[in-house]
Amino acid sequence: MKGITALFLGIFGTFAFSWAGLVLIPNYQIGHLDPQVDEEGNDPYPMPKSGMADRGRQIYAANGCVYCHSQQVRADYASSDIERKWGDRRSAPRDYLFERPVVLGKMRGGPDLSNIGKRAPVAEESAPPASPAPAVPATNAAPGVSPAAPSASATPVPSPAANTSAQPAPASAATSPSTPVVASDTPPTYSAAWHHRHLYSPRSLVLDSNMPAYHFLYEKRRVSGERAADALKLAEGDAVPEGWEVVPTYDARCLVAYLMSLDQSHPLKEAKTAGAPPASAPAPAPTKEAK
Ligand code: HEC
Repeated sequence: MKGITALFLGIFGTFAFSWAGLVLIPNYQIGHLDPQVDEEGNDPYPMPKSGMADRGRQIYAANGCVYCHSQQVRADYASSDIERKWGDRRSAPRDYLFERPVVLGKMRGGPDLSNIGKRAPVAEESAPPASPAPAVPATNAAPGVSPAAPSASATPVPSPAANTSAQPAPASAATSPSTPVVASDTPPTYSAAWHHRHLYSPRSLVLDSNMPAYHFLYEKRRVSGERAADALKLAEGDAVPEGWEVVPTYDARCLVAYLMSLDQSHPLKEAKTAGAPPASAPAPAPTKEAK
């Protein structure tokens, strides 16, 4: 029984040491992060997500997307993530400030999704380019914000709500004669419509995909009146009978809002952006360097 004190102290010391290393010091280093702002206190990053996107994260977690998809770009010295164009810089703790829970993921059955929202086509579907409309100066502000309501762009496009089908348009055809409702037209890659179709039927877009199809996030129903604006444009193999349509459930729309919100492209001072001059370089314009 002589060594009992030493034994006890040894065990205690081991636990105390690892607690300090794994809890205390990391908490001191990254436990009190705030969003980053520029010198004037503007341009905060990150920002909390919209309610729909926030709910979408729960759908993401509930459906096990995290088992196949990571959301962390590793630094270039440790991986080829940046080379694979999954991001311009490594992910940093600050990127996840408003994430509850953080769905980092640790396996990659599919690509990393940290910046999937950033890869959306620039002019995210501002409704079908129905008329040769006077190009509204598509307020390109806030890239994170979804281009909400295609608020009747002040053009004389016949509103689908107006049931007085004044137009001699071929029944239920698309508004523009140049966009026939043929199944084979694929939506622009990484647009919301693309994500919906991909979730519904991954292999209709990526031939050898082994991602599961999330049919249950969609509703197949009879067309009542007009075809719904957000009805999926399906490939021939998935096409539904005439008079039926497949529409996203609210959960699916939240999930896609979440995917489209994933964007870590904002520069962070703690993570070097690929292609940017190294922070220590004798910058010609020192005022811009902190960006
Ligand atoms: C069994 C593994 C698996 C699961 C689970 C899974 N995926 Fe995938 N995912 C993949 C694979 C493999 C790919 C690449 C092929 C493709 O694009 O379909 C992929 C591709 C993607 C892409 C396109 C990424 C890119 O860079 O092109 C998105 C977006 C995506 N998945 C979202 C999801 C969401 C959301 C969920 C959960 C609802 C999910 N995935 C669940 C395996 C999976």
